[in-house]
Amino acid sequence: MNYFKHESAIVDDGAQIGEGSRVWHFVHVCGGATIGKGVSLGQNVFVGNKVEIGDNCKVQNNVSIYDNVYLEEGVFCGPSMVFTNVYNPRSLIDRKDQYLDTRVKRGASLGANCTIVCGITIGEYAFVGAGAVVNKDVPAYALMVGVPAKQIGWMSKYGEQLDLPLSGDGEVGCAHTESRYILKGNGVTCIDVKSKE
Ligand SMILES: CC(C)(COP(=O)(O)OP(=O)(O)OC[C@H]1O[C@@H](n2cnc3c(N)ncnc32)[C@H](O)[C@@H]1OP(=O)(O)O)[C@@H](O)C(=O)NCCC(=O)NCCS
Repeated sequence: MNYFKHESAIVDDGAQIGEGSRVWHFVHVCGGATIGKGVSLGQNVFVGNKVEIGDNCKVQNNVSIYDNVYLEEGVFCGPSMVFTNVYNPRSLIDRKDQYLDTRVKRGASLGANCTIVCGITIGEYAFVGAGAVVNKDVPAYALMVGVPAKQIGWMSKYGEQLDLPLSGDGEVGCAHTESRYILKGNGVTCIDVKSKE
C-alpha cells in the first residue's frame, strides 16, 4: 500500500487509490472508486462506487462524493459541501437508474457548505463561494455566490478576483504569477506565459 490510511477508515476491496494519498479518520471508500495520487480525504468523507477523483484533489471533512460525481485533477471540496445525484428524489420511488452526472473540471474550488445540484459541469478553476447553491453549468474561472448561485466575477488560478467585467473584452495579469487572463464575450481563458504554479 503506497498511500496512508488511518486505522478507522474503511476502503472496500477493489478501490484504486494512488500513491501518496491520505485517507483520514472514519472515511469510507467503496470498491468501485478510482482515486488519484496525492489526494486527501478528510475526516468522515464518503466515496461511492461510480466516482473518479483526480490527482491532488483535497476533500475536506464531512463530504459525500456519490455515484456519478467526477472530479478532475486539483479540485478543492470545502468542508461539509454537498454533491447530489438524483434530481427529484422521492423515498417511495426508485430512481437508482436516473443518476445524473456531475463533473468538476481541473483546479475548481467548491466552498464550505455549498450544494451542487446534479447534472451540471463546473468549469476549470471556477470558484464556488461558501454556502452557494449551484444549479447550472459554471464557466471556467467564474466566481459564483449565493442561492441560487450567480456569477459575480472571475477568479484567477491563484484564487483572487480578476479585474474584469462579467462580459465584453479585456485582459489582465495575475499579481502573483506570470499568468494572463483574456476575456472574450462571456468566457475567460488563461495564458501561462511562464508558469510558476
Ligand atoms: C468568495 C470569497 C473567496 C471572497 O472573495 P472576494 O474576492 O474577497 O470577494 P468579496 O469578499 O470582495 O465579496 C464580493 C461580494 O460578494 C459577496 N460574497 C462573498 N462571498 C460570498 C458568499 N460566499 N456568499 C454570498 N455572498 C458572498 C460579498 O458580500 C460582496 O458583496 P458586496 O459587494 O455586496 O459587499 C469568500 O467569500 C468565500 O466564499 N470563500 C470560501 C471559503 C471556504 O469555503 N473555505 C473552505 C476552506 S476552510
